[in-house]
Amino acid sequence: MNATRWPEPASTRLAWPGWRRWSTAVALLMTLLFGVGWPGDAGAEYGDVVLNQRSDFEGMRPVVFPHWFHRIRFRCKVCHSELGFKMRAGANQVLMTDIIDGKFCGMCHNNQIAWGPERCELCHSGLPGLSPGIVGGAQTSGPGRW
Ligand code: HEC
Ligand code: HEC
Ligand code: HEC
Repeated sequence: MNATRWPEPASTRLAWPGWRRWSTAVALLMTLLFGVGWPGDAGAEYGDVVLNQRSDFEGMRPVVFPHWFHRIRFRCKVCHSELGFKMRAGANQVLMTDIIDGKFCGMCHNNQIAWGPERCELCHSGLPGLSPGIVGGAQTSGPGRW
């Protein structure tokens, strides 16, 4: 799966023109000083989301959803309005039967837009016991990194 991983933001940062590098440095400094302002603080938009309402309970590893990986490919409203994903970590009750029926993740993970629901371990890649919520900052870890 590593081959399909999106390049991490750090590598694109090197290619930015100087002024952007400076504004990045300033933003980083503000973050260090005041703990605010760095886009990474937005959390979910850039990090991963652990979905674990039922997986652990049902004997599956928790789901690690790489939010950044998806949001650079799709508009927010595809998932947060058309697919009905509530914009709050842990707020969605997703059943595997829904996914197989083409709802939620299954609208795309259907072997047409993206690989299908039979690839259990690509989604259920979290360590057992992970709590639902946001993990990580400006990059996505991708499957198998938990
Ligand atoms: C495209 C991503 C994806 C794939 C592939 C996937 N799942 Fe899931 N699955 C989810 C999500 C998201 C949830 C909801 C997680 C939660 O809140 O616990 C879930 C929940 C579950 C649950 C608990 C809820 C329920 O319906 O009982 C089980 C059990 C489960 N999956 C089994 C499987 C098995 C077995 C496979 C492979 C045949 C599989 N999953 C493949 C995304 C996926
Ligand atoms: C491919 C689907 C998809 C796309 C595209 C997407 N999101 Fe999400 N988003 C999710 C899922 C799934 C969750 C986790 C929901 C859960 O944990 O129950 C989530 C969670 C969130 C959260 C909750 C964070 C928290 O701290 O609780 C916010 C905010 C958010 N998304 C904003 C956005 C914005 C802004 C965009 C567009 C720039 C976007 N999302 C694009 C699927 C998506
Ligand atoms: C709007 C379409 C869409 C939705 C909805 C969607 N995905 Fe994806 N997802 C994709 C596409 C496209 C890829 C890239 C597939 C490829 O590289 O072959 C992908 C890739 C992934 C990857 C692999 C990321 C990597 O680093 O290679 C994971 C894990 C994943 N999705 C999990 C999920 C889970 C879990 C959900 C539901 C919470 C979900 N996706 C919902 C379209 C979607």
